[in-house]
Amino acid sequence: MTTLLDELTAIVGPTHVLTDPELTAGYVTDWTGYWTGHTVAVVRPGSTAEVSAVLAACYRAGQPVVPQGGNTGLVGGSVPLDGEVVLSMLRLNRIEEVDPVGRTLAADAGVSVARAQEAARAHGLILGTDLASRESATLGGIVATNAGGIAMIKNGSTRSRVLGVEAVLADGRVLTRWIPLVKDNIGYDLPGLLTGSEGTLAVITRVLMRLVTPARATATALAGVPSAAAALELRDALGRAGLTLEAAELMTAAGMRLVVDHAGLRPPLAQPAPYTVLVEVSGSDDVAAAAAAVLADCEGLIDAVLEEGHSAKLWRFRESHTETIAASTITPVVKLDVAVPLRRMEEFLDRLTELLAAEFPTIRPICFGHFADGNIHVNLLDAPVDERDAATNRVFELIRDLGGSISAEHGIGRAKNPWISFGRDPVDRAAMGAIRAALDPGRVLNPHVLKLG
Ligand code: FAD
Ligand code: MLT
Ligand code: ZN
Repeated sequence: MTTLLDELTAIVGPTHVLTDPELTAGYVTDWTGYWTGHTVAVVRPGSTAEVSAVLAACYRAGQPVVPQGGNTGLVGGSVPLDGEVVLSMLRLNRIEEVDPVGRTLAADAGVSVARAQEAARAHGLILGTDLASRESATLGGIVATNAGGIAMIKNGSTRSRVLGVEAVLADGRVLTRWIPLVKDNIGYDLPGLLTGSEGTLAVITRVLMRLVTPARATATALAGVPSAAAALELRDALGRAGLTLEAAELMTAAGMRLVVDHAGLRPPLAQPAPYTVLVEVSGSDDVAAAAAAVLADCEGLIDAVLEEGHSAKLWRFRESHTETIAASTITPVVKLDVAVPLRRMEEFLDRLTELLAAEFPTIRPICFGHFADGNIHVNLLDAPVDERDAATNRVFELIRDLGGSISAEHGIGRAKNPWISFGRDPVDRAAMGAIRAALDPGRVLNPHVLKLG
């Protein structure tokens, strides 16, 4: 090991190889605080050439590596549990270019989502992916996880906007697919394959993203509704009025109460409701008036507030959920990120509540999510550590029964390995395994993540 550490030090310089546990602490525990391990070293390369040399050295030594961006992942995929080298990408932080004509952004993988968003905005464009972790999550991270987030309903998946990548393969070879065009059909879609690969196929060093033209006028509303079905009816009514959904989020009464108490906010609605929907819509200049008319006509609506534009004030009720939940549980929160067919969302929420109350009475569930994508984040608070897996299993069995997905946007990581067969059959897993073995025959890249069984 001394020889490998010497080699890594020679590549990136002594200040960028961290071995002191005090310095590595922030790199070995995940955002939820549940997944924590140890590393032989955190290595912080400053260029693609250094990433390539580090990986080549680790590959020769058979040393496993965990790529890490902002370490905001929620499935334990970005931290070492067994002494893997942590390859921190945060020093690769250059925004190369925004091309306002071709509507593309070229940047290093370690650039934060917030900085990329700002760079796009300076040219009258937007990145297209947005999520509450934007200040810390990196471009490499959102590509590696195919992040969903609050703008997916409008702009599609992160994958659909990755035009190109530069990535270093396990053995150190640099793969470059970099054509700034939406039309480029030469062979397999390797950028699409690396998107969502969770650091198991290559280390992404640069990304080329298609940017999006922002809506001209928007309005944001919070509306209390009696059911998930009513939330979907509101979505449809907004569509019938010619408004475009920029975001569509669902929160429960328990989640709203927790956020209001934790952040010391005033409840936004005069009357509490079983569900609170946040919608941001776009349209012509009088979008706020059009949205107000829809809300006024919407049958069963309990109460609503509406603001012109993107209302940070209203969004705070939604975006505070993750941090509030993490701060309000006595054991690390169990985060289950599921999707259900829209027509079965109501049934899912009802059956989930019943089964958890009957079988895991001490667990407090808080659900919220991107409801128009069918994506519900099920958070289990106060889950006794010895009930985590059993409760997860029951929720995922329900999801399987309903024809949903056990991982809508956060990925498999380490946390969901035992359940991958709930969503991928043996032939599918074998095909994925063959791709992985072809690209990383030494199995050094994130070996404990996305185990195909
Ligand atoms: P990390 O956490 O560092 O890594 C995540 C995975 O990607 C790991 O498997 C890692 O090995 C791999 N990886 C990272 N960088 C690279 C690279 N350069 N090359 C290869 N592999 C790499 N997720 C959503 O999808 N939607 C949301 O709405 C959302 N909201 C969030 C809100 C909060 C408050 C928090 C804390 C998290 C949220 N997340 C969300 C989860 C998380 O922010 C995303 O998964 C994000 O894409 C992770 O980016 P990161 O840079 O932090 O990656
Ligand atoms: C979100 O939508 O806020 C996230 O995916 C984070 C979470 O699930 O807590
Ligand atoms: Zn989410």
